[in-house]
Amino acid sequence: MIYVWLLAMMQQAAVPPPAGPVQPVPYSHKTHLAMGLKCNNCHTNPDPGEVMGFPAESKCMQCHQAVKKDSPHIQKLAASAKENKPMPWVRVYRIPGFVFFSHRAHIQQGFDCSKCHGPVAERDVIRKEVSLAMGDCMECHRHNKASTDCKFCHDERN
Ligand code: HEC
Ligand code: HEC
Ligand code: HEC
Ligand code: HEC
Ligand code: HEC
Repeated sequence: MIYVWLLAMMQQAAVPPPAGPVQPVPYSHKTHLAMGLKCNNCHTNPDPGEVMGFPAESKCMQCHQAVKKDSPHIQKLAASAKENKPMPWVRVYRIPGFVFFSHRAHIQQGFDCSKCHGPVAERDVIRKEVSLAMGDCMECHRHNKASTDCKFCHDERN
């Protein structure tokens, strides 16, 4: 029996986490955070605080007006900034619309971004390396004595 269990565990361990998506330009968190940028330079958590959001392309152009401007990737970025058309970033972490979630509520509890997204500053490509399925939300809520009532995450707002 134990061997069957061990084999199952080993097979599970051998399954690699999902690969990161191909993004419209190869933006690297690792490269950019090494320059001293902070998460909230780009992800601002506007009111009411549910989303972190993505930076405006004009933010990127503060540097890329000059930096690597001959790169085809940067030209794509520049065109998107000029036309005021957001880059079509492929979403990595996403929960269904019938689940209520607030970034601000969790950040105010003192949780670091890495708790739910892994060591982003070390990544060239963001992939879903932390699972945020219902059971994972529940486990942390239980651990921190936060509510696990169905209505807490699935409420009238849906
Ligand atoms: C220079 C701007 C910039 C900075 C600084 C930055 N990010 Fe990002 N972030 C982006 C862009 C652009 C994307 C979309 C492309 C991608 O997924 O790599 C993104 C995507 C993400 C995603 C994936 C979101 C999803 O579900 O698709 C996470 C998570 C994230 N960032 C976390 C962080 C954290 C944590 C930090 C600080 C350690 C940080 N970011 C700093 C620009 C930035
Ligand atoms: C603080 C200045 C700064 C900001 C802000 C910035 N970048 Fe960069 N970016 C750089 C520098 C410097 C490099 C070159 C790094 C290297 O190659 O060593 C770079 C490289 C890149 C590259 C690789 C280009 C190539 O062809 O090699 C991409 C793509 C990129 N940045 C996208 C973005 C995006 C998207 C944003 C906004 C979310 C952004 N950058 C914001 C400074 C910046
Ligand atoms: C308690 C877990 C948790 C923490 C802590 C957390 N996130 Fe998230 N993040 C999520 C979930 C869940 C989603 C998907 C939300 C959705 O689809 O509505 C997400 C989505 C995102 C996105 C995609 C855009 C958006 O707003 O939906 C970005 C960017 C992001 N997070 C960045 C960050 C940054 C930066 C921090 C730290 C300041 C952070 N997150 C902290 C759970 C978390
Ligand atoms: C790292 C631990 C942790 C994770 C992971 C986590 N939560 Fe929470 N969550 C908390 C704590 C602690 C609170 C604060 C509870 C309180 O105020 O009593 C909270 C609060 C909330 C709230 C109340 C927000 C408000 O506006 O007051 C909702 C809704 C919620 N979480 C949903 C989720 C969902 C959905 C997920 C999974 C995608 C999730 N949480 C993952 C720890 C976590
Ligand atoms: C802490 C937050 C949280 C609580 C509490 C919670 N859920 Fe969920 N629930 C989620 C998240 C997140 C998802 C989406 C998971 C995904 O798509 O990966 C979800 C998905 C679901 C789904 C859809 C399942 C599917 O496979 O698509 C149902 C049904 C559901 N929840 C019922 C409940 C019931 C019943 C309760 C009370 C016993 C409950 N939930 C409590 C966060 C929560």
